[in-house]
Amino acid sequence: MEKNSFIWLAAAVAIGLGIIYFMRSGPLPGYEPVNVTVPELTAEAQAGRTIFEANCKKCHGKNAGGSRKGPPLVHKIYEPSHHGDIAFQMAVKNGVLSHHWPFGKMPPVPGVSEEQVTSIISYVRELQRANGIR
Ligand code: HEC
Repeated sequence: MEKNSFIWLAAAVAIGLGIIYFMRSGPLPGYEPVNVTVPELTAEAQAGRTIFEANCKKCHGKNAGGSRKGPPLVHKIYEPSHHGDIAFQMAVKNGVLSHHWPFGKMPPVPGVSEEQVTSIISYVRELQRANGIR
């Protein structure tokens, strides 16, 4: 291969890797995480937070504000009248097909009990109320 074309090829590969790196690490374009205000939490919500951080945070993000793998739960879509507490139990037990967002589907999360989901719900509802979602 000619020296010149090798340099061009190397540059193209470097740019390609840069783009891939950016796309994997940055937020999904158009879906920035929500900057969530965290209120003083009740004991139940504190417990929920610990369980959330172990099982849900990798997709639903810090303070349930969303990440590039999952939507914010502190969002109007998930207000209690649209996604009642049962929607949380069902999501954890059965998973969720992708329908509101372009993040893909949520797999079931085994090993999180109904009681634990109830604590997570307290946590998410307290965050929602502190951020104007009722
Ligand atoms: C592997 C990533 C991932 C994990 C882990 C995850 N979720 Fe999700 N979740 C998603 C995605 C993606 C959606 C959005 C699906 C859509 O509507 O497009 C979602 C949607 C939801 C919904 C909305 C359900 C509905 O009826 O629309 C709830 C509630 C939820 N998740 C709760 C949780 C809880 C609680 C946990 C932890 C126990 C959790 N998720 C863990 C990815 C994840």
